[in-house]
Amino acid sequence: MRVADSGPRCPHYGICGGCSLQHVPYSEQLELKRRRVAEAVGREPDEVLPSPVIWHYRNRMDYAVSPELAVGLRERGKWWSYVDVRTCLLQSPEADAVRNAFRSFALERGIPGYDTRRHSGILRYLVIREGKFTGERMVAAITSEPLVDKLAEFSPPARVDSLLNGINRGLSDTSRADEVLIVKGGDTISEVLSGYRFRIGLNTFFQTNSYTAELLIKLVVEEVSGSRTVYDLYSGVGTLTIPASAVVEYAIGVESDPQSVDLARRNASENGSGADFLTARVEALGHIDADAVILDPPRGGVHPKALGAIVSSSPSKIIYLSCNPAKQGEDLAKLRGYRLERLVAVDQFPHTPHVETVAVLSRGARL
Ligand SMILES: C[S@@+](CC[C@H](N)C(=O)[O-])C[C@H]1O[C@@H](n2cnc3c(N)ncnc32)[C@H](O)[C@@H]1O
Repeated sequence: MRVADSGPRCPHYGICGGCSLQHVPYSEQLELKRRRVAEAVGREPDEVLPSPVIWHYRNRMDYAVSPELAVGLRERGKWWSYVDVRTCLLQSPEADAVRNAFRSFALERGIPGYDTRRHSGILRYLVIREGKFTGERMVAAITSEPLVDKLAEFSPPARVDSLLNGINRGLSDTSRADEVLIVKGGDTISEVLSGYRFRIGLNTFFQTNSYTAELLIKLVVEEVSGSRTVYDLYSGVGTLTIPASAVVEYAIGVESDPQSVDLARRNASENGSGADFLTARVEALGHIDADAVILDPPRGGVHPKALGAIVSSSPSKIIYLSCNPAKQGEDLAKLRGYRLERLVAVDQFPHTPHVETVAVLSRGARL
């Protein structure tokens, strides 16, 4: 695969906290990540897969809004300082156009930006999600109070299938909406990965790089193929469960977020998949009757209780995906009785220090 080399192309590079490795040629970024994974997991990865697309790869960006209506990202190392982003090479030119038009709209209408220190003002975040393989786009203004009528006057300069108003009245600085109001269109958009169509909501998790997400699906499908029963723990909207269900007898996803489970069930039915989904916290599961277990936890890793339940359930294979190799390294050491057979690093996040890893373990000798 040929991957174009990089350089600091972004006008905000150096100040913006969005990507810190833009000055490093892409081949060297991959080498840095290979070393990082080796240190964290205690073993060289067998492969480091580059992102097939290294610019405009992100399908979601959460642009923070300052009290003065800067709309962009935080300054590197300064959470209190905003970069008023005009161009971001991580998402898309269309997302740039929408974000820049939204800033002008908010300024013209005098909508006050939110002050995270005083907890005053209205506009907190602008979230843009887009299907890289469908062209669909969701735009959500996250506000401290409902603003639907005003937002209905916004005319985006690019395709928008879902215009939402997410309400966050809380004190913590987050783009997560406690309530989602529809301004125009539907409340989900779709992305197609590896031939499967997935509906995504504002708050539901989705792999942020659609191009490498297809690599993750391929790896998982390869590894579970031929298994009878597969449990996909932390299953989100079914991104891994549904493709896995095509090559095993029975696939079940376990996810704690009810909205994600609703969408996962809908995604399964719309893709003709027989995958089932259970709304539960992984650590509340008892015995897991499976040949293979897929684990894709949040950054904090797998709950120790869940690690214990997995070890005592003794599946033949464990496929552990992680965006936090240091935490993954700690968890792998607790999977007693399992041997690390394969370790693949996937560069989901070009130009940033982050990396995704897929560890495949078989029941056998200690790691
Ligand atoms: C990194 S995402 C992985 C999602 C999915 N595997 C995918 O590829 O899109 C982690 C998911 O775990 C869910 N989650 C977080 N804590 C959980 C828990 N204790 N039990 C079950 N699910 C949890 C989150 O809601 C999120 O959907």
